[in-house]
Amino acid sequence: MKFTLRLEQELPPVLRGLTFDGQKGLFVHRTEGKKVDLTLPVARVGDSIEEKIGQWKTLLAAYTEARRLYPAVIGFEGLELQFGLGTNYDEAVRAEGVSALPVLPPSTSRSDVVRDKIALVTGGAQGFGEGMVRALVEHGAFVYIADMNAEGAKKLADELNYEACITVAKSIAVNVTDELSVEQMMDEVASQTGSLDLFVSNAGVLRAGSVKSMALKDFQFVTNVDYTGFFICTKFASQQLALQNLASKTYFTDIIAISSKSGLEGSNKNGAYAGAKFGTIGLTQSFALELVEDNIKVNAICPGNFLDGPLWSDPEKGLFVQYLAAGKVPGAKTIADVRRFYEAKVPMNRGCRTEDVVKAILYIVEQTYETGQAVPVTGGQVMLN
Ligand SMILES: NC(=O)c1ccc[n+]([C@@H]2O[C@H](COP(=O)([O-])OP(=O)(O)OC[C@H]3O[C@@H](n4cnc5c(N)ncnc54)[C@H](O)[C@@H]3O)[C@@H](O)[C@H]2O)c1
Repeated sequence: MKFTLRLEQELPPVLRGLTFDGQKGLFVHRTEGKKVDLTLPVARVGDSIEEKIGQWKTLLAAYTEARRLYPAVIGFEGLELQFGLGTNYDEAVRAEGVSALPVLPPSTSRSDVVRDKIALVTGGAQGFGEGMVRALVEHGAFVYIADMNAEGAKKLADELNYEACITVAKSIAVNVTDELSVEQMMDEVASQTGSLDLFVSNAGVLRAGSVKSMALKDFQFVTNVDYTGFFICTKFASQQLALQNLASKTYFTDIIAISSKSGLEGSNKNGAYAGAKFGTIGLTQSFALELVEDNIKVNAICPGNFLDGPLWSDPEKGLFVQYLAAGKVPGAKTIADVRRFYEAKVPMNRGCRTEDVVKAILYIVEQTYETGQAVPVTGGQVMLN
């Protein structure tokens, strides 16, 4: 591979990859005007990335072995660009020293698998996504909350950072249906933390309707977000994760699509959604086959109905209210009747919760001998065959 005109965006993931210790990498943050501890030979557009990595690896290893510390700031000969390193986000931003040569003890429990790692959740401002963000932060990850609802994402990040007393989350405004917006999001990730370990493509929308009457624009609205959005996100995330992989080639990163139980079986008068969610699994399998060479695992999770989430429970426009008004549940007179009807469809007799989905995320990250799978989290409502 060769450096392109996007050298500024390509260098941070390559640098982060150089710091992989088998379990995780450092945070790499673009800085300005700091004292540079290690200056690496310059990279130019058209240079072979692998050759540069070879040179830089030797110099970085010599530096860290001599001092038992990573350089706080890395610069490049003749380039203005410089990057702070850190074992967490704030340390990398301050660029005043790395706390110690980090060697992570092997994880002893599944909940450790995201500790000190960098994750991004699209649609992270509310619903399932918000629950994932909160749980990943609780398990020790730094999380980008990437959402079209920029205000909601910022509010959540502010709350989490306030509680943690360090920066554990950052919001990014993104529209996953817009290539430029997703590219800019990944550029921001590159300049803030170098890259990512885990990308969760969770942003999704639902607009139900009969095939006989649904407007094409409604059908396309759903498929643009739920299906095409996953393609666009994987396109830009995988370019960056592949660059990050080049230096070590031994460490797995993850892209996870949040599909649905409606990605495993059809959904009456809900074809746009189910079709997009089935399609997401087709993309997952295909991307997994291709990206395995970059040590990127691609898997999907298929949750059952999140009955406590805003999609179902919003008092004005939630599905309970809509289904009651539309008479979709025979004999139902109240919202509680509608809810019971949907709970009764689940052998485990309850709706899916965020913690159920988070367990699947942690399993996928921990499992380093599986890719291209769709993991059901449905309380037994949908069984694989
Ligand atoms: N709620 C359920 O019962 C259920 C069940 C199975 C799967 N899912 C899937 O889980 C995911 C999350 O669902 P939810 O119920 O939490 O939804 P939600 O409506 O509560 O939240 C979705 C989030 O995505 C954001 N978003 C929407 N369009 C976007 C875009 N174009 N770009 C960026 N962000 C965008 C919204 O602002 C919102 O914050 C979806 O993919 C959904 O299909 C939901």
